[in-house]
Amino acid sequence: MEHGKPVNILFRGARVIDPARKLDKTADVLIREGMIMDIHTDIEMALDFPPGLQVIDARDKWIVPGLVDMHVHLREPGEEYKETIATGTLAAVAGGYTTVACMPNTRPVNDSAAVTRFILDRAREQGSCRVLPVAAISKGLHGENLTEFGELRASGAVAVSDDGRPVMSSLLMRRALEYGRIFDLPVISHAEDLNLSQGGLMNEGPTSTRLGLRGIPGTAEEVMVARDLLLAELTRGKLHIAHVSTAGSVRLIRDAKERGIDVTAETAPHYFNLTEEEIMLFDPVYKVNPPLRRSQDVAAIKVGLADGTIDAIATDHAPHSLIEKDTEFEYAANGIIGLESAVPLILSLVREGVLSPSEAIAKVTCNPSRILGAGLGTIQIGSQADLTLMDPEATYRLDCRTFRSKSRNCPFHDREMQGRVIMTLCEGKIAFCCL
Ligand code: DOR
Repeated sequence: MEHGKPVNILFRGARVIDPARKLDKTADVLIREGMIMDIHTDIEMALDFPPGLQVIDARDKWIVPGLVDMHVHLREPGEEYKETIATGTLAAVAGGYTTVACMPNTRPVNDSAAVTRFILDRAREQGSCRVLPVAAISKGLHGENLTEFGELRASGAVAVSDDGRPVMSSLLMRRALEYGRIFDLPVISHAEDLNLSQGGLMNEGPTSTRLGLRGIPGTAEEVMVARDLLLAELTRGKLHIAHVSTAGSVRLIRDAKERGIDVTAETAPHYFNLTEEEIMLFDPVYKVNPPLRRSQDVAAIKVGLADGTIDAIATDHAPHSLIEKDTEFEYAANGIIGLESAVPLILSLVREGVLSPSEAIAKVTCNPSRILGAGLGTIQIGSQADLTLMDPEATYRLDCRTFRSKSRNCPFHDREMQGRVIMTLCEGKIAFCCL
């Protein structure tokens, strides 16, 4: 199939799921010159259909809005040997994503309008999908001085975060939430108390003791979640908790939502598909921050996803090269890549009965889009096609050597998967296709 040109496609008999419009029905989808013209059962072939129209049998397949990942690391500028905007967005579209929000822990840090604009320019020139920059809360991620929120907003930042590092100063976090409110920027919290976590390599508990690895207690995350919730209540700022990993965090966020605090939360597929037990063989591919937790935490995260406490699933795609990862557990970098394995891992929640198909798709489309104020994550008739065709039943063994990402730090390599992305249309064009 030809890439790069607006497409003319008629998908026949797909299950079209668009949670934003409460749509879940079997229908044909007609795309003409890259625009969605019709979503209807049994669209009749008309004389005015374009001659080159491709008809694709999409029975038993799902058509969903292009996926939105609100938490990825693209590593450009500065660490292009791990990932670039070009390779990271290629990985994104191969995973079904048409929009990714990229974290500011690049080199230099995205703490200025110049870096935000650089990322947007690079994405326009070399990217395969939309890139929404998240700018830093503090200059240089040092946790001391606030960045210029107004300027960052004006240059295209959609949120602020010091992700990778917590904002240890409660006063600075208070100011971030206050200014975030003024400039309509959600504040994304990497919730970690460094005094409790520093030096830790995995979750603290009997397993870390048995392995002789220094532990990070769940409490290191929870005290900061609790603090940030209190600050959100005080300031009425817009708080989003990144990569929720513990049962205690889920409980705190649930209670806060019940009390009317403006908070949203995300988790990542590794926090509901893996536990700390994976570390038994000291393989650094399982090293991530926050760390993999206990089975009770995994169970609580699933409940949190099901009851809406956790609004979004983000990958926290964190590419690292072999130099950082293929070393002793103690010295290895934290991080797991996620863009090209997310769909089957998220669909596992549907197979387990945790989420309905529509609820699962909402966590990777309209929900993250709403949190970022992006106005995406829905299928609109009359607008450019931005959608993903997936086969929820396809089974295969995941081979990360075929990934578009530059990095290979994927703990799901060689595991049996169910659910595959077949085609990604971004802005009316084929961005990925494995038909
Ligand atoms: O494991 C992680 N890797 N956690 C983070 O918070 C940062 C990320 C990275 O940038 O590699």
